[in-house]
Amino acid sequence: MSQSVSSFETTSDSPTMDSSVKYTKIRVEPTSGCIGAEVSGVDLAKIDDETFEEIHRAWLEHQVLFFRDQKITPSEQEGFARHFGELDTYPFIPSLPDHPHVIPIVKERDTKLNFGGGWHSDMSYQEKPSMATILYALEVPPHGGDTLFASMTAAYDALSPGMQTMLGNLNAVFTAAKVHSSEGLYSKVDHPMGKKKDEAKEQARFIHPVVRTHPETGRKALYMDAPHVERLENMRLHESQPLMDFISNHATSPQFTTRFRWQPGSLAVWDNRCVQHYALNDYPGQRREMNRITIKGDVPY
Ligand code: SIN
Repeated sequence: MSQSVSSFETTSDSPTMDSSVKYTKIRVEPTSGCIGAEVSGVDLAKIDDETFEEIHRAWLEHQVLFFRDQKITPSEQEGFARHFGELDTYPFIPSLPDHPHVIPIVKERDTKLNFGGGWHSDMSYQEKPSMATILYALEVPPHGGDTLFASMTAAYDALSPGMQTMLGNLNAVFTAAKVHSSEGLYSKVDHPMGKKKDEAKEQARFIHPVVRTHPETGRKALYMDAPHVERLENMRLHESQPLMDFISNHATSPQFTTRFRWQPGSLAVWDNRCVQHYALNDYPGQRREMNRITIKGDVPY
């Protein structure tokens, strides 16, 4: 019998959640064994530096943080985002009027395809992929429309040393073309948010390592997201595909994930350097509206 994903062991050197980390400004409750925490006791419309330092520490530890019952305007969402770094610009969807860094993510009742409905890391097709994403829920279905998150450090840690070494020597060719070009997935549907055309960004290719090192924690993370990876560097597609499938399937195994159920006023902030996410499309006939901001990152190494 082939090894089932549930038989992976947690190795003694795998970093685990440290519940002894002390916070004085916020409360932090992990949502699963290796990724995600719900943070309470904070109003994101007005946070001081000390509170942000705790949020940032919790974020590096848990990789995706969830906040509830926030009442924030697009400007306040930008203000929170700027604590993390410089704001990125999304190339393929028009932004909100007067907020060039905020894009609406809307699925109307009659829209079939959703945005982000496959495991991916945001804007990994850029030379400098987005470091973080902040998603704020305005309207959500009564049930369904959850988002799944997977820890790419936990997925890397669970690999055998031999596989870690082999993957550590690989690079992949990243591109937006599979999704955003005129032949791409999103070209086949009308998107309620409308589309922006940027031929150069659609067609660009950048080489990134399949195992990247997190610049702040030093942890190694798998970096491979199927919608944005064309093939492995120096390999043909049919040679790359089995390895790409293995990495994607392994990386998104249930034990590396957490799942967030949105309510209006919920906000999530995730670290694209070590997290993949997946927006579930299981709410036909219902409306969902979010505002999204991405934060600029570095060249992966
Ligand atoms: C995204 O991929 O950024 C969208 C996630 C979501 O809408 O849940």
